[in-house]
Amino acid sequence: MTTRSTVSPGGDFRPRAEAVIDLDAISANVAALRDHVGGRDVMAVVKADGYGHGIVESARAARAGGASWLGVAFLDEALQLRAAGDTGPVLSWLAVPGERYDEGITAGVELAAYSSAQLLEIATAANQVGERAAVQLKLDSGLGRGGARPNEWARLTALAAKRQADGDIEVTGVWSHLARSDEPGHPSIADQTAAFEAGVDEARAAGLEPRHVHLANSGAVLAAPQTWFTLVRPGIAIYGVTPFADGSSPVPLRAAMTLRAALALVKRVDAGLGVSTATPTSPTGRRRWPWCRWDMATVFPGTPPAPDRSC
Ligand SMILES: Cc1ncc(COP(=O)(O)O)c(C=O)c1O
Repeated sequence: MTTRSTVSPGGDFRPRAEAVIDLDAISANVAALRDHVGGRDVMAVVKADGYGHGIVESARAARAGGASWLGVAFLDEALQLRAAGDTGPVLSWLAVPGERYDEGITAGVELAAYSSAQLLEIATAANQVGERAAVQLKLDSGLGRGGARPNEWARLTALAAKRQADGDIEVTGVWSHLARSDEPGHPSIADQTAAFEAGVDEARAAGLEPRHVHLANSGAVLAAPQTWFTLVRPGIAIYGVTPFADGSSPVPLRAAMTLRAALALVKRVDAGLGVSTATPTSPTGRRRWPWCRWDMATVFPGTPPAPDRSC
């Protein structure tokens, strides 16, 4: 099945370009990634309008391919999935104070908690609506983005254990996010994995029993089995794009999006000609020809292929 979105100048003009989305490719990629991780749970990341592929359509395709979970940044996105009829497990991980947690809790959306203040806000909302909130605690194992740093983790897990005993929340998961999984073998992957494992042990020592333990985004799903734990969280790979700069992937992926437009002009160019305004330059001031030449080869037939994509 495919969906299309078009770019047109507006009014009655005919569309000038279109994005054609192959939803079967998303299903096939999810199935292939799930096989690759030995049948572990897959949380398909469909935030940001399914990386531009359409959140609802991508979510359905991912579920059809075997994604038991969906992952989104905002609660609004999770509620959009619910409004479209999705009833399965969904994790929403990016909130600000004053968030509509009550709506998320009654819709059965699992909520990430990054700090004690946020956990209290979620627990209070749960108490008010008279339902237990399912919460997944996030450790900042080294990304430096959302999540509690290891020095705040003991306080967060102790508070979570208390509010769980009070009946306001249930801690279903513990998770973290990698900074550089798109660079296989990068030392930060081992460092973050070790910090994460220590955090999971600490959560268990505080009396929590997280069923879902997860760390791996696409790069790690493809190439770092030690990060797989109980569940993996691929984004870009489910849309058929490898995160690796050399274009490789140990799992065959099918690109889900094809951009199509009528060609306005086809011409042969000399290597070294810049492409349009603001041609990218390297830090040394040299223009980045090989990249441009590679990129334009598909548009300008006859342009010799560059030795590699990077420069
Ligand atoms: C928390 C979280 N997990 C997983 C992903 C998926 O990452 P990727 O597209 O590299 O697989 C993202 C995307 O940025 C994310 O924010």
